[in-house]
Order: sequence, then C-alpha cells, then structure tokens
Amino acid sequence: MSKIGIIGGSGLYEIKGLVHKSRKKIKTPFGKPSDEYLTGEIGDVKIIFLPRHGKHHDIPPHMINYRANIWGFKKLGIERILSISAVGCIKKGLKPGDIVILDQVIDMTKSRRSTFYDGKEGVVHIDFTEPYCPELRQIMIMAGKRIKVPVKDGSTYVAVEGPRLESSAEIKSFSILGGDVVGMTGMPEASLARELEICYSGISVVANYAAGISKNRLTVSEVMLAMRSSTEKLKLLLKEVFATVPAKRKCTCGEALKEAKI
Ligand code: HPA
Repeated sequence: MSKIGIIGGSGLYEIKGLVHKSRKKIKTPFGKPSDEYLTGEIGDVKIIFLPRHGKHHDIPPHMINYRANIWGFKKLGIERILSISAVGCIKKGLKPGDIVILDQVIDMTKSRRSTFYDGKEGVVHIDFTEPYCPELRQIMIMAGKRIKVPVKDGSTYVAVEGPRLESSAEIKSFSILGGDVVGMTGMPEASLARELEICYSGISVVANYAAGISKNRLTVSEVMLAMRSSTEKLKLLLKEVFATVPAKRKCTCGEALKEAKI
C-alpha cells in the first residue's frame, strides 16, 4: 500500500473523502508540529494530512515549526510528501487560479531552523540541485494531463520570510533573478524533507498577482477566495495521483544522505 503525506496550506485544512480517520499527536525532539496528523485512506493509499498553519490557521509562516512537521511525517513512516501552498505570481502567463508544479527554489528566508544537522549528528550537506522529487513532479504532471486539469510545469519558487507581503521593488528583483512565484512556506520544508530522505513535491495554487504586478493592493481575502475556488481542481488532481502512484520509489531521494555526511 502506498503512503502519502500531505501538507495543506492556506484555505486547505482538511482532506474530504478520507475514510477510517484517526488523529495522531506526535512528539518530536524539535517540539510540537502544527497540529495532529489526520490519518486515513483514499482508495488503496494511506494518507496522512497536516494543516501547516494549524486547523484554525493560527500559526503564521515565520512561526511554523518546520522541523517538527517534517520529522512527524518521518516518524509516521511517510516516504513521500505532497505540499500544497498558495503563491503570488511574478511570471507573465500565470494568473490567479492556476496550479503550478514547482521545480526550483530561491530561498530568501532569514530566521528559520533549516536543518536537522546542527553538528551533534555530524555535518551534512545534502544535494539540492533538484529541490523537488523529479518522480513525484512527473506523476503530478501526467495526472493533470490524463484528467485534463491544466497544471503549469516548471516554476521557480521564491521563498520569503513573511508575514508581510512584498514591496514592488522586491518582486521586480525576484523577477530579474528568475523567480516565477512567491510564497512564505516552501522553505525550509523542501530541504528538511530531503535531509530525512523523504520525496517532496510542491504544488502551488496561484492566489494573486504579486506586489506591483497587480495594480490593486493585495488582500488576504483574495488569497483565500482563489484557494477556495481551486479546491475542486486540486481534489481531482490529488485523486488521480492517489490512484496511479506506484508503491515503490524509483528516484534517488531515499539515498540523499549517501555521500552527504562529513
Ligand atoms: N507573496 C507571498 N506569499 C504569498 C503571496 C504573495 O503575493 N500570495 C500567497 N502567498
């Protein structure tokens, strides 16, 4: 049986259709995860769901215990995580409501505990050439094609500290650097998952035009509205992924620590 972890972002605090639900409170050496892990099954796949901001959305991006969240998944035996998040779009051609399968990262966060290896367990430098699991990315893209839910392939995610939104000069500079979308939670999730040899895939819903691209002031309600209106598409996509994901991984994420330790 395949087992998949899902991290739900803004506007996604539960997964409908989970059967045999139970809630698991997990203790970690890094403190408390954002919430209990909701476990259940959809078809033949065991699903473990965690709302990143807590089920009442009371944890802001810079206060999320990213290490505890990812460690909790590892403790529950998860080898693959699909991480869902809201983003603002920078690149021309993207628009609110689009679903984007991320493939690169530019990390602009500043305050976060971004490794499990602070020295006691040895010094570790994981390879991050491809921040997202290439196999999971392909599974997502092919699933979208099969069920005709359009997904955009090939976006670079700029991770910012938040919780404030960006200035228009910041967005302009991210655009020059090659950023396509901007969000507050994608890092250090991706690299922490790699350190624990978990496959990680970033699925982002474009919630708004980023600062300066939109003529209007950005509002939280437009972000929430875009997330809610994309939920149906997202659900169809996830259902197809669950139905087709092979039980065994073929990627190299499971060997990330090989040749990474000093
Ligand atoms: N900037 C940063 N994070 C976001 C945005 C944005 O415009 N929209 C949704 N998350």
